[in-house]
Amino acid sequence: MQGAFTENDLTHVVEADKAHMWHHLFQHKALETSDPRIIVEGKGMRVWDQNGKEYLDAVSGGVWTVNVGYGRESIAEAVRDQLVKLCYFANTAGSIPGALFSEKLISKMPGMSRVYHTNSGSEANEKVFKMVRQISHKKYDGKKHKILFRDRDYHGSTLAAMSATGQEQRIAQFGPFAPGFVKVPHCMEYRKDELGLGHLSGRDFGIAAANQIEEVILREGPETVGLLCLEPITAGGGVIEAPEGYWERVQEICKQYNILLHIDEVVCGLGRTGKWFGYQHFGIKPDFVTMAKGVASGYAAIACAVTTEEIFNMFKEDPSDPLSYFRDISTFGGCTAGPAAALENIRIIEDEELLNNTLAMGERMNANFTALMDKHAVIGDVRGKGLFQGVELVKDRETREPADEADAQKVVAECGAMGVIIGVTNRSIPGYNNTLCFSPALISNEADIDLICETVDKALTKVFG
Ligand SMILES: Cc1ncc(COP(=O)(O)O)c(C=O)c1O
Repeated sequence: MQGAFTENDLTHVVEADKAHMWHHLFQHKALETSDPRIIVEGKGMRVWDQNGKEYLDAVSGGVWTVNVGYGRESIAEAVRDQLVKLCYFANTAGSIPGALFSEKLISKMPGMSRVYHTNSGSEANEKVFKMVRQISHKKYDGKKHKILFRDRDYHGSTLAAMSATGQEQRIAQFGPFAPGFVKVPHCMEYRKDELGLGHLSGRDFGIAAANQIEEVILREGPETVGLLCLEPITAGGGVIEAPEGYWERVQEICKQYNILLHIDEVVCGLGRTGKWFGYQHFGIKPDFVTMAKGVASGYAAIACAVTTEEIFNMFKEDPSDPLSYFRDISTFGGCTAGPAAALENIRIIEDEELLNNTLAMGERMNANFTALMDKHAVIGDVRGKGLFQGVELVKDRETREPADEADAQKVVAECGAMGVIIGVTNRSIPGYNNTLCFSPALISNEADIDLICETVDKALTKVFG
């Protein structure tokens, strides 16, 4: 057997899993007649399951996380060394890796200056929402408290993050939601007819899509809106890139109505799109940036809410008021393993020049899939940036009617059977869980990319002929 897998009888593990585990985003009925997939080991781009089957992982741990690949001893050592020195102290005090990682992170984010450590993407987003609500109370009598979020975007699994989520199937049956969250339209050019903007394209469409945000602001009253929260590329909602002109106009609108701009980089942060952060492709200056998955590539749980010195200063203006500072704590935001792993993660991305690799391999993947459009009429659209690519499947290229979700799932299953793990939009937008998702580690080489695309080619042939 090649690579890292060590043979062991894992029958008991499978039984224990079936008896006691509750898997995420998973309908468990299937496990009454089959075994769960248990991922046992990983090395580089590859993982092995309980049966020793090897997979090329085209989704970095299922949900776009293991940016630098599996089995990095230097991260494990950095974490080990830190844990035996100091595993934890509440972030009311400082820590060596906390300070050094924050300094390093800020060096990649011109204009930003303060890092708030937390332990999940949902929580990082909630920190920003709380900061905005507090600013509203401190400066605007509580009035400028509304948080705008976009159709098709996702910001997490906790209730306030769900209140800011534009994916109907993710939030169904979990309401009622928190008040003061308002949805704005999506900006997906491929589905622009839904926006009533079918007659526009390119930059004109981008500006018009951003103007639809302005319409919502004017309807709600700009004096009531505190924050606009957006993904730089909508991830689970379909790998959606905003069109040209959109971001410029978004920034103008925020400035005009004194609305803070929050970019949720939980997926795109730390190199996924070929820059340190997705927003850095667009020349915008956010007031808040949140990040999680790739921050330590899954070697430790760490997420961050990052902001500017200007925002930070608002929370120390009046020290005589006991309520004036940000009265919030995240217990595990004080774990030192996270920043220790994250610091080493950044060093690897720098030393191995993974941003350049991501751009080059992303272009290759996009070109490979685009070329497959000649062969497979079911591919309606290929889109994405860097190593975050989506392939939308349709029944008809003209009408853009989405392919059946069950067929998209079959493509995923066929790829898995051939030893490549890919993703698909899942319980996101009703009728539109039809976009295959690809986010291999930033260390991917040409052979990895080609193998992923060839496997998808074969799977499409099997499912659609
Ligand atoms: C864009 C985005 N924001 C936030 C989250 C929530 O992150 P977490 O699962 O770490 O809470 C996710 C998770 O997939 C995400 O894709």
